[in-house]
Amino acid sequence: MCGIVGVLTDHEAAPILVEALKRLEYRGYDSAGIATVHNGMLDRRRAVGKLHNLADLLVYEPLPGKAGIGHTRWATHGGPTVRNAHPHRAGRVVVVHNGIIENYRALKEALADREFESDTDTETIAHLCETFLDRGMSPREAAAETLKHLEGAFALAFLFDGEEDLIVAARKGSPLAIGHGEGEMYVGSDAIALSPLTDRITYLDEGDYAFVTRSGVEIRDADGRQVHRDTVKIAAQAAQVDKAGHKHFMVKEIFEQPTVLAQCLAHYTGNGAVELPDADLDFAATDRLIMVACGTAHYACLVAKYWFEQIAGLPCDVDIASEFRYREPPVSDRATALFVSQSGETADTLAALRYTRDKAMAVVSLVNVPQSSIARESDTALPILAGVEIGVASTKAFMNQLGALACLAILAGRQRGQLTPEREAELVGTLLSLPAMINQALALEDQIRHQTGKLAEARSVLFLGRGPMYPMALEGALKLKEISYIHAEAYASGELKHGPIALVDNNLPVIVLAPRDALFDKTVSNMQEVMARDGKVWLVSDAEGVALAGEGVWETLTLPTIDPVFAPMLYAVPAQLIAYHTALHKGTDVDQPRNLAKSVTVE
Ligand code: M6R
Repeated sequence: MCGIVGVLTDHEAAPILVEALKRLEYRGYDSAGIATVHNGMLDRRRAVGKLHNLADLLVYEPLPGKAGIGHTRWATHGGPTVRNAHPHRAGRVVVVHNGIIENYRALKEALADREFESDTDTETIAHLCETFLDRGMSPREAAAETLKHLEGAFALAFLFDGEEDLIVAARKGSPLAIGHGEGEMYVGSDAIALSPLTDRITYLDEGDYAFVTRSGVEIRDADGRQVHRDTVKIAAQAAQVDKAGHKHFMVKEIFEQPTVLAQCLAHYTGNGAVELPDADLDFAATDRLIMVACGTAHYACLVAKYWFEQIAGLPCDVDIASEFRYREPPVSDRATALFVSQSGETADTLAALRYTRDKAMAVVSLVNVPQSSIARESDTALPILAGVEIGVASTKAFMNQLGALACLAILAGRQRGQLTPEREAELVGTLLSLPAMINQALALEDQIRHQTGKLAEARSVLFLGRGPMYPMALEGALKLKEISYIHAEAYASGELKHGPIALVDNNLPVIVLAPRDALFDKTVSNMQEVMARDGKVWLVSDAEGVALAGEGVWETLTLPTIDPVFAPMLYAVPAQLIAYHTALHKGTDVDQPRNLAKSVTVE
């Protein structure tokens, strides 16, 4: 969380910093700030709320200078106020920080004689650095010395009084990219922030710090040894970061799903079979698949558990990363560990990956950002090819996580002798038919817009599903609460009578995701139990399902008929559109919902 940038340029730094911060706002938007050094003097501007507040402030209080750093914040320590906004300053140094300094209390106690103005952990970094400057160290030495005292996860950029050609950048646990321009240099939380400025990027490794000047970068490892890190050319992504005429990134990304899923499936299939380009996975040699992720990616794994077990007969555990890492479960050396993450930077997922390294037979990741930490630390990193996802609510990444996981399950089925070539071709054929079906589901948008008018009035909503539709129900509930702020829960339909049915009354909408599968009749019984207690059922099914069970329900939505095995991928679309249009009716901030950030790099 939090986005940081830095520029050393021959132009005014402030507009460049603000533009770059716009591209990082997905990482947090509680407050923003920039600092520059001009005529040898540091100065800063900070504003609460979205970045446009900072941009407005800069109109009235411009900040000159050709060297600067900036920050967009997702609050951890201290509320979203101006005094807690970054950059934080102590005397001759300002700092921007992404992450958490875990030993900040001890550091603050040791710095008790200094005056703190904020409630943040970050300010201790600035004060600590200033004490080293006081002792006569140079800015480079003081920053390097400061880093030795910090515990936790961080990406940092320091700027100093009197130093118009120096940014010190550091990375431990949070990503940081150095951008190379023509006579200019940049620092950013990710390459997207820097993409209009340069396509030449050097990623710092864990524990690295860097002295960045206009003429280049000197990188040191955690032990202070000068090291070389490769500079890579990244694909120009600037064009992808706009709404393409849509009102929100989220709806743009929902509508991109047929295209990006087709791209993903084209990558993983060929001639009616699954093909894994540039990777070698052996599911026959493994005795257990352990899948670990957070949030929406975790729900994708829960759906895929059904596929790996049913298609491949492969025992499969799915864990929430934050639980897995501290539970310290035994991991057999025949297990394959699979980490799923859109950003590839989620702190808990990364920590869980590190826990399995040296234990599991193979450490595999499925990511959307190929240069991410999770990708770089895996034995095998597989792309989901969803393209840049900006909306905080994950949609197209979920779809492509499912697409790639489905292909892996089919591969596992073949390698483990569980699938005939005919069945494999059938399953691949179903997958390949999905983009067209998703288009049909997207065509229901107007109907959903109309139907969600009533849903927006609800205080609470239940989602029900059985089999792989249960994790899909979990995802539907997450989407709804995330962007509409309506309380939503999901239950496996059969679990309803074990407690949650007590919630049912005539104010409770219950969205039932029920394709016509082998469990359909059982789900319908559970649905009847809800209706018998005046619950308002919204049945999402196919034509046959709606015809059989749609009578007397509150609302219906009819999707194309699909092989139930991959139905969650199709049913994701109405779940996303229900959340989106409910949020529109409620007038919430769809792309930047309150309290959230796209990339969760703190635990
Ligand atoms: O980048 P990751 O896939 O690792 O992120 C995991 C979750 O933080 C993420 O899916 C989150 O739950 C989304 N906001 C859901 O829409």
